[in-house]
Amino acid sequence: MPCRILVLISGNGSNLQAIIDACAHGEISGEIIGVISNVPSAYGLERAKSAGIPCRVIDHKAFTQRADFDQALFDAMQAYQPDLVVLAGFMRILSEKIVTHYLGHMINIHPSLLPKYPGLNTHQRAIDAGDSNHGATVHFVTAELDGGPAIAQSQCTIRPNESVQSLAERVHALEHKLYPKVVAWYASGRLRLIEGKTYMDGQLKSCDLS
Ligand code: GRF
Repeated sequence: MPCRILVLISGNGSNLQAIIDACAHGEISGEIIGVISNVPSAYGLERAKSAGIPCRVIDHKAFTQRADFDQALFDAMQAYQPDLVVLAGFMRILSEKIVTHYLGHMINIHPSLLPKYPGLNTHQRAIDAGDSNHGATVHFVTAELDGGPAIAQSQCTIRPNESVQSLAERVHALEHKLYPKVVAWYASGRLRLIEGKTYMDGQLKSCDLS
């Protein structure tokens, strides 16, 4: 059975596009069965429609109570019956109920070499700190923001006097290779979260840089 992949987005969706392309090229033994955005104008929705993928918008601004948005999002996710939930630039903090329900079946990509720089403005923070390296991390999602067990990282060196924009573009390019690869590992049953740790092919996986 191909892995049923649900992707959650809030914006441009370039990582979504990379996963769409990898599925189309047979690099992932799965299919994207739905895309959910909390932002009605997210360009990623156009990408999904162009690929013939069903979309739902759960606009957080349409809810006065946070709990009602959380429930609507949970219901929408459940309706797709996903095997894997992929957060691809989804900019809302998920409820404990969602995180618990999909524990081990939900991954996120973050634009830093975690545990460095959880949260926002990661590229600026890496430059300001004078770091020599920067990159992206894919991790299982837990209740801790950007804090779940790491799966894999991809890194680049920060060039002398590099701008935030240049660094962001280069990290994005790394993400577009890294994320489909990790989704492919999961879809082929190689990747598991066991007792809070990442396992690959039955072995404890240290987060190697790739
Ligand atoms: C990426 O930088 C990702 O690391 C972060 O959000 C951004 C999403 O970009 N979580 P896109 O919407 O996939 O282009």
